[in-house]
Amino acid sequence: MARRDQPDRYAKQARREGYAARSVYKLEELQHRFALIQPAMRVLDVGAAPGSWSQLASKIVGNRGCIVAVDLADLPGLDGVKNVETICGDIHDPEVIERIVGLGPYDAIISDAAPRTSGNRSLDTTRSAAIVEQVLWLCERVLAREGNLVAKLFQGGEEQLLLQEVRRRFATGRLLKPKASRDESFEVFLVGTGYEG
Ligand SMILES: C[S@@+](CC[C@H](N)C(=O)[O-])C[C@H]1O[C@@H](n2cnc3c(N)ncnc32)[C@H](O)[C@@H]1O
Repeated sequence: MARRDQPDRYAKQARREGYAARSVYKLEELQHRFALIQPAMRVLDVGAAPGSWSQLASKIVGNRGCIVAVDLADLPGLDGVKNVETICGDIHDPEVIERIVGLGPYDAIISDAAPRTSGNRSLDTTRSAAIVEQVLWLCERVLAREGNLVAKLFQGGEEQLLLQEVRRRFATGRLLKPKASRDESFEVFLVGTGYEG
């Protein structure tokens, strides 16, 4: 098994292609399967740092589209990218929500947000589910009809319940683990297409 501290083929490819993180290939696979992002879309990227998902989304939406990238951490890697607006803060913070709403609505919400892992799996999955619940709440506020969603979730807790929530709100809902997701990682991704409100 590849060691986590050794760059695997996705990490090497990301470096070669100028992406900030290997996670970009998870979004790329989901994009390939579901065409979640289209040219000229407005996209909200939740938990965007260091910025690889926004980099890819920015290329897809082009000059007529826009990415709003939000993270607890600064996003210096996205400075100067013309169609990306950054917000530094917590997606639970009312001021951050107000800024997100002010820059919306969005045609897609992409969330790779994850809590800092503590080693206590049950606590980590609960925190991850809380982030997904907040993202679903944001969908109600700012996702346009027919919009798409991808949201990372740690397995071992509420994934079936949250999948049902996605299916209730979207024309299609799935739970997947992309190839670029490390075997030992317990992350999965909820994908919803065709937001119905
Ligand atoms: C796996 S990283 C995202 C990687 C990113 N998609 C990329 O491709 O570069 C997860 C991010 O979620 C962010 N995050 C976690 N909880 C958050 C919250 N409540 N509000 C905003 N960002 C959050 C973390 O700061 C972290 O940068």
